[in-house]
Amino acid sequence: MELTGVKAIVTGGGVVGGAIALGLAGQGADVAIVTLRSSQAETVAAIERIGRRAVHVHADITDRDSVDRMVGEVVEGLGGVDLLVNNAGLVLRAPLHEVTVEDWDRVTAVNLRGTFLCGVAVAKHMMAAGGGNIVNIAGATAHKCFPGGGAFGPAKAGVVNLTGQMAMEWARYGIRVNGVSPGPIMNQETAEILQDAEMQERVSKIPLGRVADAEEIASVVCFLASSDSSYITGHVIVVDGGGLHTSYLYP
Ligand SMILES: NC(=O)c1ccc[n+]([C@@H]2O[C@H](COP(=O)([O-])OP(=O)(O)OC[C@H]3O[C@@H](n4cnc5c(N)ncnc54)[C@H](OP(=O)(O)O)[C@@H]3O)[C@@H](O)[C@H]2O)c1
Repeated sequence: MELTGVKAIVTGGGVVGGAIALGLAGQGADVAIVTLRSSQAETVAAIERIGRRAVHVHADITDRDSVDRMVGEVVEGLGGVDLLVNNAGLVLRAPLHEVTVEDWDRVTAVNLRGTFLCGVAVAKHMMAAGGGNIVNIAGATAHKCFPGGGAFGPAKAGVVNLTGQMAMEWARYGIRVNGVSPGPIMNQETAEILQDAEMQERVSKIPLGRVADAEEIASVVCFLASSDSSYITGHVIVVDGGGLHTSYLYP
């Protein structure tokens, strides 16, 4: 998966964003990481250690002015942008009848509006440059509903649809757009949830018997970002250990 010289933006710097940024850099990409508040000094240093350029920009992906400023800074800092990974996300779990309008708006704004705003801002540069590549991170719950997911599943279902719409509108500009829908991924929150016996029971129903490591999401992103997937656009790859074929999401 050759990505030498590719200039990439990865939004979000949690466990998954960090693994994606490092995975891309490992294949030769220079990477800009975008977060709302957190520092990314460790990931930036790790990327620099493997000989690639890394920059970190603070931006609010729900705000158009902030996104446009961020893309301008990255284009200036890295010398262009060939790849965008829309990875930043927000989940607030609650039964639908308890979801406040504010929480609904926050979750849909980060997951769906943020993907739209970053996609459009970056696509304008890619159109002018003659092409590019976008990978949107959705989620297994975009494809199968489960109780207690709040606005997350509906927002990620929007990301799946938006992926197709971006791909159809931007193919003529040489821009491919695909998505990845992860099932549960191991991070601090997942580790805490998995202390619960009922959750362990649910995870045991996943055919591969475990949650994903973030690197297993990153490797699929690298594939979609590379010319190895040159004839794929408008599609979303579900990376969930086979979970969607089961009832693991149901209590
Ligand atoms: N973890 C899972 O089990 C799982 C399962 C399915 C899908 N996913 C999806 O995979 C992606 C990554 O998940 P994750 O678990 O790594 O997420 P995470 O640890 O919660 O990290 C989310 C990242 O998004 C950034 N962010 C949030 N709101 C933002 C905003 N308004 N502007 C800019 N950045 C913003 C955060 O910035 P700060 O660092 O500054 O807070 C953070 O770096 C998300 O799209 C998520 O929905 C995750």
